[in-house]
Amino acid sequence: MDAGTRLAARPLRTRPRRLRHTSALRTIVRETELSPADFIYPLFIVHGENVRDPIPSMPGIHQLSIDRAIEEAQRAATAGIRAVLLFGIPAAKDPVGEENFDDDGIIQRAIRGLKEALPELLVVTDVCLCEYTDHGHCGLLNHENPALPTGYVLNDETLDILARVATSHARAGVDIVAPSGMLDGMVAAIREGLDEDGYDHVPVMSYAVKYASAFYGPFRDAAQGTPKFGDRRTHQMDPANVREALREAALDIEEGADFLMVKPALAYLDVIRRVHDAHPEVPMVAYNVSGEYSMVKAAGERGWLDERSITLENLTAIKRAGADLIITYHALEAAGWLKSR
Ligand code: PBG
Repeated sequence: MDAGTRLAARPLRTRPRRLRHTSALRTIVRETELSPADFIYPLFIVHGENVRDPIPSMPGIHQLSIDRAIEEAQRAATAGIRAVLLFGIPAAKDPVGEENFDDDGIIQRAIRGLKEALPELLVVTDVCLCEYTDHGHCGLLNHENPALPTGYVLNDETLDILARVATSHARAGVDIVAPSGMLDGMVAAIREGLDEDGYDHVPVMSYAVKYASAFYGPFRDAAQGTPKFGDRRTHQMDPANVREALREAALDIEEGADFLMVKPALAYLDVIRRVHDAHPEVPMVAYNVSGEYSMVKAAGERGWLDERSITLENLTAIKRAGADLIITYHALEAAGWLKSR
């Protein structure tokens, strides 16, 4: 008997590999199953007709006019995706962001167009100021209060605008509003505004735990919401913190949030897990952001990584960490891959 045979004959009783040696076995013990219904597909909406402008730093993603966005949403629905998330690029920007709460603004028109063409598809809207303000910040800026720096994003003064934006989206027929500014009290203000106007049935998906992250770089090209000066560190969270994430999540639930979101996703899987475990009763959303998408695309284009495998592995990891829903630019492509698997 040589050494190999003797080792093979060892009387091990516990052999995890028994559950891995055929594809059928691996399938029946799989703990996390990815499905197109887990995905929310972001769309960038611009004025005009027949516009489909590629975003250079996000291969495969475009700025779309409403007619083209409806086509894209139709493709998503056919692939089994149940929800899209809308970002609007206004015709003009100003210090307050007037088009944001204009009933005839780009997003309000997109909501009506999408709901008319595809009533079953859920329309979620990002509720924030940064794409609409000429300074690119997520709120009104301080110019008068000497106790605060000039250019500081004012909190309470901005809340009224967020409520106006949300109710205007509700009037257009939105299914879910998603405030993304990380201002204190934003969920409560939006909830109150919606309820007062008769939209107590419209859920709030709160960007409850959103970090001040460099992973948003490509998005800011796509949505043209880069701050003209400074950064967002006075309202978005410090990437070093996780206890603070639990506090943010608990507050948002108190204020009436129906979904909790953690953003970005991949560098924050521990945060997804902690927030989910702290609030297992609330649906958890993770935002697989633009920079996370672009890294995979760039490496895939160079042949450095197998893009399809990496994408499905990343998305599975986000779900395994505790996310019920994943906002991802990979949605349409990944849904296709899942179907053909
Ligand atoms: C703000 C908003 C941002 C993203 C979603 N909503 C940008 C920011 O906070 O600067 C980033 C999404 C991404 O990177 O994919 N309206």
